[in-house]
Amino acid sequence: TGFPSLVKKGLSKLGVPKEFFEFFSQWLGDYPRIPEAKGSISAVRNEAFFIPLYELFLTYGGIFRLTFGPKSFLIVSDPSIAKHILKDNSKAYSKGILAEILDFVMGKGLIPADGEIWRVRRRAIVPALHQKYVAAMIGLFGQATDRLCKKLDAAASDGEDVEMESLFSRLTLDIIGKAVFNYDFDSLTVDTGIVEAVYTVLREAEDRSVAPIPVWEIPIWKDISPKLKKVNAALKLINDTLDDLIALCKRMVDEEELQFHEEYMNEKDPSILHFLLASGDEVSSKQLRDDLMTMLIAGHETSAAVLTWTFYLLSKEPSVMAKLQDEVDSVLGDRFPTIEDLKKLRYTTRVINESLRLYPQPPVLIRRSIDEDVLGGYPIKRGEDIFISVWNLHRCPNRWEEADKFNPERWPLDGPNPNETNQNYSYLPFGGGPRKCVGDMFATFENVVAVAMLVRRFDFQMALGAPPVKMTTGATIHTTEGLNMTVTRRTRPPVMPKLEMATLEVDSSVNSS
Ligand code: HEM
Repeated sequence: TGFPSLVKKGLSKLGVPKEFFEFFSQWLGDYPRIPEAKGSISAVRNEAFFIPLYELFLTYGGIFRLTFGPKSFLIVSDPSIAKHILKDNSKAYSKGILAEILDFVMGKGLIPADGEIWRVRRRAIVPALHQKYVAAMIGLFGQATDRLCKKLDAAASDGEDVEMESLFSRLTLDIIGKAVFNYDFDSLTVDTGIVEAVYTVLREAEDRSVAPIPVWEIPIWKDISPKLKKVNAALKLINDTLDDLIALCKRMVDEEELQFHEEYMNEKDPSILHFLLASGDEVSSKQLRDDLMTMLIAGHETSAAVLTWTFYLLSKEPSVMAKLQDEVDSVLGDRFPTIEDLKKLRYTTRVINESLRLYPQPPVLIRRSIDEDVLGGYPIKRGEDIFISVWNLHRCPNRWEEADKFNPERWPLDGPNPNETNQNYSYLPFGGGPRKCVGDMFATFENVVAVAMLVRRFDFQMALGAPPVKMTTGATIHTTEGLNMTVTRRTRPPVMPKLEMATLEVDSSVNSS
């Protein structure tokens, strides 16, 4: 280093721009080295792995290398580096390990796909989630949440505690099944083979994402392992069901009179699948299945996790709950939310925004460099596996006041809806750049409807004697032992603003006549 670092020092003293001396140092063979942390797999396996990454971020900064034996990852927790990878130079990155892990279930679906396949599928799918579709989904969110309310009502009558995490998972499964391919899992009511199959596959995807060795690739093992046999049977059942649904939907499309147009939607079946088939989407049935499966998983586990952690946070912060219930009482009355209500449920939306800050789903984004690049001043080679820790970005103590506090008030009610752009990549609940979530609007409305309807009817407390709520990860953040709550019907009589308005109108008509 002697001579090159002397030159570098001299140049920077002269005020030479950083880019120039980066180039110069590379030319001299004096690479700045990324800070390096050494870890052991066991440390990461035992708890939610993004927790030790937070400690390392505080020690090593916004980009560092984490090495376990022969494997190494770059951990990114800096907003401008995240923006560079996700948006400005997104072409230089692929989904890497994620695509490898998810191949068995999502194939070349929109989340793992890269390159040309991704571009073509993204262009076909994004138009399906148009405004009219999302608005139509609001009714579905209300109906599904109402089914959950009935279940909670029964539990409240019987004085039984409820495990909310699994109920949220079933709620969002019912919603996404209808929304994506017009299938009623009805998992809040019954346990069918198909529901069990979906969970078998999801658990396997999560196990694989934290497994140190890919046992599913070992030649003989993969044919005789009972667990893998079960997974394959579940996959076959889901694929057969999807094939049936695709065939059924094709028949519907063939018989219908309606011409395809921009905000096309079949009122009887507004699903994404119906849109894609009606649009004349030229796609193999395997690719279509991969995309449907991808959306099923993407839209199910994420929303379930958001609801779980929102209710956990609300149970810890009664003042937020009180304010939330006030808003919901005054906006909603006793009906299912409409799109107009959603615009007025501003505080409810802030509660979701803040829950997504503290518990981002997924807590890390995965990429692999497919080109050379410079990150935070460090040159990196192709083939680097990268974790962008959204958890770290969202809890950075320098960026956020009282970073760990659940404080929806940090987002002004009259301000813009926070997103990665207006928060400069220090807040990215739905990712950013070309690979940003296609379901962000859908998911936000879904969560707002569910939270509003539930807190209007019930109070929620952590159940007495319930185990402490701890985190574990697969793709999203789960609790280790469920979210056990005591649910009671609200005692306060609901406020009915509509009635007051009616009285006023009667009065004024009396006066004018
Ligand atoms: C991508 C979050 C709901 C479909 C993503 C990404 C995030 C995310 C962070 C970016 C992943 C990356 O860059 O690696 C969420 C959260 C949700 C949610 C927090 C719920 C609260 C949904 C729903 C759907 C959906 C309801 C489907 C209707 C997708 C798809 C992608 C994606 C297809 C991949 C887009 C692409 O690569 O082009 N989501 N999502 N998500 N999400 Fe969501």
